[in-house]
Amino acid sequence: MTHQRKKISVIGAGFVGSTCAHWAAAKELGDVVLLDINEGSAKGKALDLFEASPVEGFDSKVHGTSSYADTKNSDVVIITAGLPRKPGMSRDDLLATNAKIMKTVCEGIKEYSPEAVVIVVSNPLDAMAYVAKQTLGFPANRVIGMAGILDSARFRSFIAEAADVSVKDVHAFVLGGHGDTMVPMPRHCSIGGAPLTAFLSQEKIDELVDRTRKGGAEIVGLLKTGSAYYAPSASAVQMAEAILKDQKRILPCAGWLQGEYGAKDLFLGVLCQLGGNGMEKVIELDLNDTERAGLENSLKAVKELLGALENLEY
Ligand code: APR
Repeated sequence: MTHQRKKISVIGAGFVGSTCAHWAAAKELGDVVLLDINEGSAKGKALDLFEASPVEGFDSKVHGTSSYADTKNSDVVIITAGLPRKPGMSRDDLLATNAKIMKTVCEGIKEYSPEAVVIVVSNPLDAMAYVAKQTLGFPANRVIGMAGILDSARFRSFIAEAADVSVKDVHAFVLGGHGDTMVPMPRHCSIGGAPLTAFLSQEKIDELVDRTRKGGAEIVGLLKTGSAYYAPSASAVQMAEAILKDQKRILPCAGWLQGEYGAKDLFLGVLCQLGGNGMEKVIELDLNDTERAGLENSLKAVKELLGALENLEY
């Protein structure tokens, strides 16, 4: 038998990265390599997680390192390296610092895992995915940003709570950039296949849309010392699972667009298909006037962010 386990490397062993490793190992997606510039932290967390495997009964090796050689031939790489937001900071404040980190990280990935599908989690997401794509030089299907699943998960949890229904029956998605201009799509949301308006007033829906847009800041405001990590890491690992198991799932992700929604050569949150080849398809929807205006506004914000990036040395 030549069957080999899948290999997932997680770059950055902070809150988001170590929790990614946790979800990925617990789901037995493959063997996990956790890399951080702080070697002790990566090794310590990886060993601790591996030592949980007999108790939880998962057959995933977990290895901590600061060397890219250990990530060699990864099937999927999840990048979480970078600084998180502090209260009062926007995701864009992180731009300069995280761009430098992203570039270094992607040079390591390019050298050792030229065939990997790369999932970018570090913020500001739409710009970090751009830096990753430029540095890696990988085709569009193999560099994907994690944002939409998280934003949608927030929207779905708020809807489930307000309507007092199971989260499992709530479908919802969010398009656009991963910032305050994101575009939740209530018209396309459903509870058990029925429209949201069968369960919630328009006023309540508007309130939940607004809370979703500020969902990241709500957590930062509570934590004070960092940003969200359970839901972000669960979302990144859902993408990894769809790719590693070739599930052909339809999920909202930040994809490199080539004309869809009038956007070109940049990352924007869209509904797409994830399978063994990474982002296999972008699903372009017919938007109504409000949705189109919202998405154009979001596209403008992403372009501004990329403009700021162009003026930086990294
Ligand atoms: N190479 C590898 N790891 C690095 C590098 C680098 N060049 N620079 C920093 N790191 C590591 C840090 O040592 C730290 O362990 O990245 C990790 C970041 O972890 P946290 O500070 O805990 O941040 P976290 O909450 O995990 O968020 C990471 O994800 O959601 C986004 O906005 C968030 O950009 C942030 C990222």
